[in-house]
Amino acid sequence: MNIKTFIAFSLLSTSALLAQTTMCFKENHSSMATIESTPLDGGLCSSTKSLADMKKEGWSVDDIKIEQSTNGKNYIYILKKEAQTLSSMDEEKLEQRIMQRLEKRQEQEKQAKITQFKQMMSKSGKKIYIDKCQSCHGEKAEKRAYGTSRPLVELSLDDMDQSINDYMYDNYDRGNAHVMKPYATFLTGTKVKEVYSYIQSLKPKKEEPKEDKKEESSN
Ligand code: HEC
Repeated sequence: MNIKTFIAFSLLSTSALLAQTTMCFKENHSSMATIESTPLDGGLCSSTKSLADMKKEGWSVDDIKIEQSTNGKNYIYILKKEAQTLSSMDEEKLEQRIMQRLEKRQEQEKQAKITQFKQMMSKSGKKIYIDKCQSCHGEKAEKRAYGTSRPLVELSLDDMDQSINDYMYDNYDRGNAHVMKPYATFLTGTKVKEVYSYIQSLKPKKEEPKEDKKEESSN
């Protein structure tokens, strides 16, 4: 078991590892010979289980008190059951499940970070786009700027990167490259990615795929 599993294991199963106790009793019982097979009152014996039954279920006598009563004796038992020790098979399964859960959580955290990062990118992309691009390429990136550009909303990130790069080095001209070139020169660093992220947010929303709940409920 590695340390991560061990920590998760102890967090998840502390309560299961504690020993159980219960108190059962029989008042005014006359025969020593039958006490073990007589249903006991109280606790988990609840007037149906005898000491012998309880022993079969894994309970052992932790303490016993016998006192004289008017018609016999009062027997009071403190019964104890140690937590089951896990067989190595169970332990392996448990470890597997814990690891799966940890991995799932890590994956969710990673996805959340990616989403956050995309939102950040999109936010700075929005500013750039509205300030510097929208007038020619349209509010929804749907316009053919000067009649020669393709609508930016239809371009992949690779398409955009390629075009911008090629404008910078005069390798691309659909007829009005001179209009676009100064803006291409401005789009340094991660700016193309940022603008691209923002443009993606302008597209009509597709339905989010439903989260898979199967794994949770199969446990
Ligand atoms: C003054 C108008 C104008 C502005 C502002 C402008 N563009 Fe352009 N853009 C054009 C024109 C015109 C073209 C087509 C050039 C040609 O004919 O090759 C173009 C082409 C492009 C292309 C290539 C499209 C293709 O079909 O390959 C990209 C990508 C692009 N622009 C992105 C941007 C971004 C991002 C901004 C903002 C930083 C921006 N443009 C600002 C006019 C503009």
